[in-house]
Amino acid sequence: MPAPTAAEVAEYAARRARLLAAIGPNNVAIVPSAREVIRNRDAHYRFRQDSDFLYLSGFNEPDSMLVLVPGRKEGEFLMFVRARDAAREIWDGRRAGPEGAVSVFGADQAFVIGDFEKHLHDLLAGRGRLFFTLGEHPEWDGKIAAVVREIREVSRRGASAPTDFVALETTLHEQRLIKTEAELALIRHACTVSAAAHVRAMRATRPGSWEWAVAAEIHHEFERNGMECGYGSIVGGGDNACILHYKENESQLRDGDLLLIDAGGEYRGYTADITRTFPVNGRYSGAQKEVYEVVLAAQLAAIAELTAGNASSRPHEVATKALTEGMVALGLLKGDVATLIEEGKHRQFYMHGTGHWLGLDVHDVGRYKLEGEARPFQPGMVMTVEPGLYIAPGTEGVDPRFHGIGIRIEDDVLVTGGAPEVLTFGVPKAVADVEALMRG
Ligand code: GLY
Ligand code: MN
Ligand code: MN
Repeated sequence: MPAPTAAEVAEYAARRARLLAAIGPNNVAIVPSAREVIRNRDAHYRFRQDSDFLYLSGFNEPDSMLVLVPGRKEGEFLMFVRARDAAREIWDGRRAGPEGAVSVFGADQAFVIGDFEKHLHDLLAGRGRLFFTLGEHPEWDGKIAAVVREIREVSRRGASAPTDFVALETTLHEQRLIKTEAELALIRHACTVSAAAHVRAMRATRPGSWEWAVAAEIHHEFERNGMECGYGSIVGGGDNACILHYKENESQLRDGDLLLIDAGGEYRGYTADITRTFPVNGRYSGAQKEVYEVVLAAQLAAIAELTAGNASSRPHEVATKALTEGMVALGLLKGDVATLIEEGKHRQFYMHGTGHWLGLDVHDVGRYKLEGEARPFQPGMVMTVEPGLYIAPGTEGVDPRFHGIGIRIEDDVLVTGGAPEVLTFGVPKAVADVEALMRG
């Protein structure tokens, strides 16, 4: 990730200012970075920064810590980072060091991470509430607890230790739920490139292609745009589409089968999340089209519900009703639609939710309910809309022509002050449009 521009530094500062205000005076917040993770022996997985840490700093190095201390005279924003090290930097890459944390990333003060505990004592002493998400960074839980205990032990002679320990999501994750204009620009870009990647996959698919080869078309489109996968791509042909988290991507695609692709590229930490289901040979069969039209109608109806003020549970309710009506019309289920839903019978063919928040995490943070009630949509929220129908091979009591059909259609939608804005419009989903694209 390149060093932040002046505008980006200002954006991160504004995010921290909001969080500082929410934390309140006399309190303190600690946000650890992600760590490098071993893949095998001495090889690491590609580093991915912790989303909270990235949101607040844009700093993309491991073994770092960010501390926010509202009202502190010497500075409210502290960073603890890896020391510069000429030898290590030759092997492993550049480090900003404490100097760069101040000059490039705008920290008021920065120190080497090895000195974190030494400074923590003074940073926590006299503060009432500590915002730190216990359990998420086990390597730090014990160390921070030990410093708190140390302060308690000497408190008779000086300042007291924090008494309240609060998970950061109560404030920070609510803030992350409403995207800023700068975030939306990144999300739009991730969505545009990801849509183009799906178009490319549709064009490249033929009977006899392999799932991994189609995945490679998608991933090439991500990577040549400076992006990576936001989550493991699902490229499932035929029956594989009925496995919700199919990730082997190892089968050959057959004439007459459908191909379900769920893949999204991540740009500067923000991911898209798109699913399309299209015919390997370019034409939907009669049975495939019947099921597809049900899912598409449910998706369009659900998308229309993403308006400010509407309950965020509405898309799922609307999609579930439309899909269940479709299941009855197709003969997959028999009975009264409302009763079938009440008894959960629709779950045989539609067993997941209709959407989730989207942002720095594919299943992004933010509560879905407030005081037990589905929260209303607000402008700046981004949610996926992804109904599907999955008719496992050999399902008893179902016309065999539907067996092995798995269909999901997923778009990413921004809640605005007006109509919902589909950010992933660049990849077609109407039957005629998909077929025209594959012919062309
Ligand atoms: N790709 C994960 C999801 O659709 O939720
Ligand atoms: Mn998805
Ligand atoms: Mn999704």
